[in-house]
Amino acid sequence: MAFKFNFTNEDLDLEDNEENQQLETSLNDLSIDESNSVNKLPSQEYDILSSPLPSVIQGDILQVPSVEKPLYKRTLADVKFQMAEQDNLVDENADKDVVSMLNLSGNSDLIKGVYEGGFKTWECSIDMVQYLSGLPEDQVTNKKVLELGCGSSLPSLYLLDRSHTNRVDVQDYNDQVIRYITIPNILLNTVLTVQEPSSNVEEVAEEESSSSEEEDSEEEEDDEDEKRIEEDVNTCDVEAEIPSDKIPAMLKLVSERTRAFVGDWSSLPEQLNVDQEKYDMIVTSETIYAEHALPDLINVFQKALKKPDGVCYVAAKTVYFGVGGGILPFCNLLAKTKDASGDKLKYEKVFESESTVKREILKVSWEL
Ligand SMILES: C[S@@+](CC[C@H](N)C(=O)[O-])C[C@H]1O[C@@H](n2cnc3c(N)ncnc32)[C@H](O)[C@@H]1O
Repeated sequence: MAFKFNFTNEDLDLEDNEENQQLETSLNDLSIDESNSVNKLPSQEYDILSSPLPSVIQGDILQVPSVEKPLYKRTLADVKFQMAEQDNLVDENADKDVVSMLNLSGNSDLIKGVYEGGFKTWECSIDMVQYLSGLPEDQVTNKKVLELGCGSSLPSLYLLDRSHTNRVDVQDYNDQVIRYITIPNILLNTVLTVQEPSSNVEEVAEEESSSSEEEDSEEEEDDEDEKRIEEDVNTCDVEAEIPSDKIPAMLKLVSERTRAFVGDWSSLPEQLNVDQEKYDMIVTSETIYAEHALPDLINVFQKALKKPDGVCYVAAKTVYFGVGGGILPFCNLLAKTKDASGDKLKYEKVFESESTVKREILKVSWEL
């Protein structure tokens, strides 16, 4: 059964014009195909040093309001383009997985237990970057951070760039997402020299302002959150070349500050080596939509977050209609879940959007 929430299927349409492809990345909507029986992928560490890379990485510029430096991020279209251009980049089976995920049929954003949405950028991750950018220096420097369900990993990209003293580990359900989106995004934002065609930035900004003038009021209501991205976030293409002889050194630089993990949260704690060192900060965006996964997510928080001062930030829509997840079920479960030592985590709301579809950020910390 597929649940749909104001869903538009344009995000998978290669025929769309470029502007729509840029906006696809921040759609507000979520649909889940639950027809598959859930067979959780076991968690394991992803080998960053062996990650295959194309000779050119393409992405978009994303200017998050109040954040000085733009972030560079890949879109579905960039990955599709790479798949079409470089079919000999990875082994055939891996290619097939990616192509089928990119061409989801049946109007679903996610297929439960198979593909969990990481190829798209979800808008609460932009809220998270904005929020993190407003925190005092000492709260966002010299930190060991874990981003759960990272996908495009905007919060991680921001934190890696904000201070070179931060170490940021990333996790996504699908190794294909880590390979084609997360690692290239980290490279674009930390190691590579990107080419930014300045004329392109101006053109897109102009097009966005003229198109927003033309919208009628009904459309304005329907597309409120999408428009927010149009108005606040200028995007345009960038690309960076990767000479093949430089790949090992570049991936080594990434691996010095980042570990990557793939698979389900249920088996993640054993992979993280948290007995040796836990995390100062855990960030996660748009990952509490499915009620069945909340216990495993909270278990990772409890096992991986440093006591007594570790902090988690959870960015999410208030309600994900029809699938049981959202802020309330998350908070209810958090409030009654103790760890092995009998300790609990508490939450406080630190951000709420004013849009029709409410988005929030919760700060989660130990109640000791
Ligand atoms: C809707 S996407 C959000 C991606 C990204 N955080 C963003 O905001 O753009 C949900 C993410 O949660 C992760 N996820 C969902 N359920 C999971 C599970 N049971 N175990 C591990 N990861 C999961 C997936 O990796 C996926 O990338």
